[in-house]
Amino acid sequence: MKRREFAKLTGLGVVAISTTGFISFNGKDYVGDCETTSDILGPFYRPDSPVRNNLVIEGMPGAIVELSGKIRHQDCSTPHKKAKVELWHCSNNEVYDNDSEEFRYRGTTYADDQGNYKFLTQMPVPYDAGGGEIRPAHFHIMISAPGYQSLITQIYFEGDEYLDDDPSTISPRAEKRILKIDRSKEVHRIRFDCNMNDKLKPSQDALKSIVGKYRNINTGEINEFFAREGELWIKNEVFGKVFSYTGKNSFEYGGLPENMYERLNFSLKADGTVLLEKRSFYGEGREVVKNYIRV
Ligand SMILES: [Fe+2]
Repeated sequence: MKRREFAKLTGLGVVAISTTGFISFNGKDYVGDCETTSDILGPFYRPDSPVRNNLVIEGMPGAIVELSGKIRHQDCSTPHKKAKVELWHCSNNEVYDNDSEEFRYRGTTYADDQGNYKFLTQMPVPYDAGGGEIRPAHFHIMISAPGYQSLITQIYFEGDEYLDDDPSTISPRAEKRILKIDRSKEVHRIRFDCNMNDKLKPSQDALKSIVGKYRNINTGEINEFFAREGELWIKNEVFGKVFSYTGKNSFEYGGLPENMYERLNFSLKADGTVLLEKRSFYGEGREVVKNYIRV
C-alpha cells in the first residue's frame, strides 16, 4: 500500500504525522558536542523485524547504498558492543511495508565488538505525508542498548529538495543528521555514528498500573497504552509510538520541533480509578487539553 493511501485510510493528517511517535530525551536537552539528537518515530515502526543487514530486494528500483557507522557509549568514545540497530524506510516507490511477513526494507542488526554496524539497502524517496506535506527522503533508525534510552531518529540526505520545508529537518537538532551520500562507487555510502544517552526509566510497577484502555471523557475516543521493554507505548494503526518518562507519572514525546509538545500525566486515585490528562501543542493555535479515564 502506498504511504499516502495509508494516510488517507487511517485519517493521519499533517499534524498527526509531524507529531506521531518519538522519542525521548529525559525531559532535558541533550548536551555535549557529541550528541545524537532524536527525531519523530513516525507511525510506521514495526517491532521484531528480521535479523539481517541486507535489505536489498532484487528487481526493485533504487540505488544500492551501504549505511554504516559506530555506536558509542555516553562518553562519546567507548564503542558500544552489541547495541541493537533497527532500520526501516520506504521503498523507491514510496511504500512502507506495514503488514507483510516479508518486512520489506525493515531489518535488525547488532553492533560488533568495535561498535560498528552496517546495512545494505536501497535508497528511499521523498513521500507525500498527506495534506501536501512532502517529507524529504529518510531512513528511520532505532538503537537500543542496555542501560540507555532507546534512540529513535531519522537521517536525511544532503541535496534533498524538501529539506527546507520539513518541520523535523529545519530544526537545528537535525543538522548533524543530514548526511552526505558518497556516490564515488557503484554502491553508494552513508555513514552515521551515534552516541547513547542515559535514561530515566519508569518503574515496572508504575507502568503496570497505568497501561490499559482510556476513554475520552467528552468524545468517547479510546486510547490504548501498553508497556514494551520498560517503555510506555500508545497503540496505533501499525504498532505504536513510544513516550519517554519525565518523572512524576508524566511522559512526553521527544524529538518534536522545539515549539511543539505532547505530554501525558496520569493520576492514580485511591479507589483504583486512573485519570489521564493529555496536553498537546503543535506550534499553532492553542494548547489542547484532553481528559481520559481508564476503562
Ligand atoms: Fe518515514
